[in-house]
Amino acid sequence: MILDNLDAAAADPILSLSVACRADDRAHKIDLGIGVYRDNQGNTPVMQAIKQAEARLLEEQSSKVYVGMPGNESFNAAMMDLLIGEGESKARAVGVQTPGASGALRMLADVIKLSAPDATVWLSDLSYANHAPIMKTAGLKVRYYAYFDTETKLVNSQAMLADMSQAGANDVVLLHGCCHNPTGADLSFEDWQAVTLLAQKQGFLPFIDIAYQGFGDGMDADVAGFRYLAERVDSYLVASSCSKNFGLYRERTGLAVIVGKSLEQSNKIKSRLLECARSTYTMPPDHGAALVDMILRDQALKQTWLDEVDAMRHRVQGLREQLAGALREKSGNPHFDFIAQHKGMFSVLGITPEQAQTLRQAHAIYLVDSGRINLAGMQEAHIDYIAEKLLLVTAM
Ligand code: LMR
Repeated sequence: MILDNLDAAAADPILSLSVACRADDRAHKIDLGIGVYRDNQGNTPVMQAIKQAEARLLEEQSSKVYVGMPGNESFNAAMMDLLIGEGESKARAVGVQTPGASGALRMLADVIKLSAPDATVWLSDLSYANHAPIMKTAGLKVRYYAYFDTETKLVNSQAMLADMSQAGANDVVLLHGCCHNPTGADLSFEDWQAVTLLAQKQGFLPFIDIAYQGFGDGMDADVAGFRYLAERVDSYLVASSCSKNFGLYRERTGLAVIVGKSLEQSNKIKSRLLECARSTYTMPPDHGAALVDMILRDQALKQTWLDEVDAMRHRVQGLREQLAGALREKSGNPHFDFIAQHKGMFSVLGITPEQAQTLRQAHAIYLVDSGRINLAGMQEAHIDYIAEKLLLVTAM
């Protein structure tokens, strides 16, 4: 009978860690799992700019009536400005508000499936743990391009470009806009230039996932490579998130951007995305987008927000340097120096899943089995302990 055939789903490799860490009663536990920013006391406070916008919204909002299928159009436009800047492709860009960037990834995947049922989506090896499930659930094929060099812990550009040169007009190449999840190893500007040339030559569709704008080198610097590409290809897609840089995790605030060959084509594709959204969730939740819109359109609020993101970025960069320094000092070798070079919240440490499990079970340090740590989950007081246990389990 229907429903009798289902086995339980496997635990989510990231979300299950938060649950397990919460249930752990060891006082010295450290959660370096899910990509959430925490301050040096271990809290994720509501950002000041958000608090101020919320107070204003409470005063000003006069109705809770439906906003409309594409969500908040003013938010969509302001977010596209933040991403694309003044670039020429903005004239062909249309945005749709989505429930988080996962919602954007899925809706855009559904649209790809409608347009090209046999399309293959190429993901970086490694990539965000939810990329393959989203693409496969949408019915798309998934392949991987070489990305993370396990020796240098940086991008293996040559191998990456060699793999991408196999992708053609029926392929989509998914790129991380900045702050690569999970590895922390970002494309250089030269890499973006080379990928752009390949996209032009091979005709594949670039699909950019950007969830950490502002956490790498700065709000504009983080999209310099993406903007280079955006100005030089016929079409591209973007999934963008406000979870991290606005701290709006639970509000599920994201954006799907469609850029076709003409505005007319982009709008046609948008109408198909809205059709997919209608049969999935109808329309996105309003609150987070209303706040982001207010912040991006008010000079003082925007400055408060930019300053807060700068402070978060500097804290994480400082933690990177401190952890790399402690590891160098305790081990007497520079093996983990790459941690200071990585960008954004994450680094992949190059340890085995068994070593990651030992860190969890024996030392109450929670990290993803891929060896990914969330630097932004660390407190300064944790650094020596983490360095010591990491060297212990890796016998370095
Ligand atoms: C992460 O990678 O930890 C975050 O993006 C949270 C998520 O949804 O997986």
